[in-house]
Amino acid sequence: MVAVHTVTVEPVGKQVSCREDQSILDACLRNGIWLPHSCTHGTCATCKAELLEGEVDHGDASNFALMDFERDEGRLLLCQACPRSDVTIEGDVEVEEGLEFSPVRDFVATVTEISDIARDTRRVGLELDSDMTFAPGQYVAIEVPGQGCTRTYSMANPPGQSRDVELHIRRTRGGRATDGWVFADMAVGDKVNLSGPYGRFVFRVARDEPAVMVAGGTGLAPIMSMIRHVLADPDSEQVLYLFQGAREEQDLYAVEELRALAASHPDRFHYRPCLSEQQWDGATGMVTDVIDSEFERLQGHVGYVCGPPPMVDAAMKLLMRKRLFPRDIFREDFFDESDKAAGGMKSPLLKR
Ligand SMILES: Cc1cc2nc3c(=O)[nH]c(=O)nc-3n(C[C@H](O)[C@H](O)[C@H](O)COP(=O)(O)OP(=O)(O)OC[C@H]3O[C@@H](n4cnc5c(N)ncnc54)[C@H](O)[C@@H]3O)c2cc1C
Ligand code: FES
Repeated sequence: MVAVHTVTVEPVGKQVSCREDQSILDACLRNGIWLPHSCTHGTCATCKAELLEGEVDHGDASNFALMDFERDEGRLLLCQACPRSDVTIEGDVEVEEGLEFSPVRDFVATVTEISDIARDTRRVGLELDSDMTFAPGQYVAIEVPGQGCTRTYSMANPPGQSRDVELHIRRTRGGRATDGWVFADMAVGDKVNLSGPYGRFVFRVARDEPAVMVAGGTGLAPIMSMIRHVLADPDSEQVLYLFQGAREEQDLYAVEELRALAASHPDRFHYRPCLSEQQWDGATGMVTDVIDSEFERLQGHVGYVCGPPPMVDAAMKLLMRKRLFPRDIFREDFFDESDKAAGGMKSPLLKR
């Protein structure tokens, strides 16, 4: 039997029970205590907090995200640390105004669709066994069968379709979940264990400035959820610019749907698919070059950036050069195991 300890979360003094094989973040998110987190795999350092009392096992925290001296000084990564006694932690429990996060729960899903939508890119449809409420931009953690690990994938569907989940999954050569499962023997009808919703890369309804959205590869998934959600709201006047980056035309997907949305919302949705390695009749160049040429300045806007970490970093630099502050930019880095091994955390200056 696994031992259970009490976790006290300061400064609010709330208490939750946490098993020795469960992360403190997991116990909190399942019990309605929201704490900042992003990757949930020990890579990004977003969930770093103070251990005020008690003993933890630091789990699989990357040495870059949590350095030795930080462990010695009593810091921990909440997504990795499991209690070894009753513990007290101090974290940033305040939820931004206008945001609401639902508690994390477990689901069993049935695979309903597997379609090739671009080179090395699949749309996977899942039907959940019960309703899930989430904010557009959030993700689920899926157990990879037989591998004893989870991988995280963002919902591309808008909230409101509470049992149907649409994922966009890109193949990683040598990857356990993608090469070894989703692009190998995953089949329609399979049962999949997952939990969610996670993450804070969510659409901020309170930020009604025009939004510049930058998506690289399957980084489109959470942004697609946001776009579908915002444009379906008849009361919203939010203006959206989407810059979708890919190498060649065969890497682009959802172009028809996005063009149709741009045509039906000409004043609210502006769509620029950009190819970096192929001349075509659309925008050519790195997505950052295309934004650079279209906007002289971006103050008065808000940014949403998602995709491979190098693209996210390049987009962040450009948006800041165009006069957006870090507080005006929301990012999701699709970190994987190689980023974790290489210490791929983002700049500590960037809190979101
Ligand atoms: C918040 C979040 C949301 C995400 N959403 C999406 C999404 O919607 N769509 C999507 O396609 N992806 C998404 N990702 C990425 C996804 O979670 C996986 O990381 C990705 O699919 C690769 O998983 P994998 O198991 O196939 O590869 P992994 O097994 O994780 O391997 C990845 C790469 O790392 C290498 N590697 C493995 N272990 C090591 C090691 N110890 N040292 C060095 N290299 C190593 C492998 O050879 C491979 O090249 C998201 C990531 C995050 C953090
Ligand atoms: S959420 Fe814990 S390190 Fe990324």
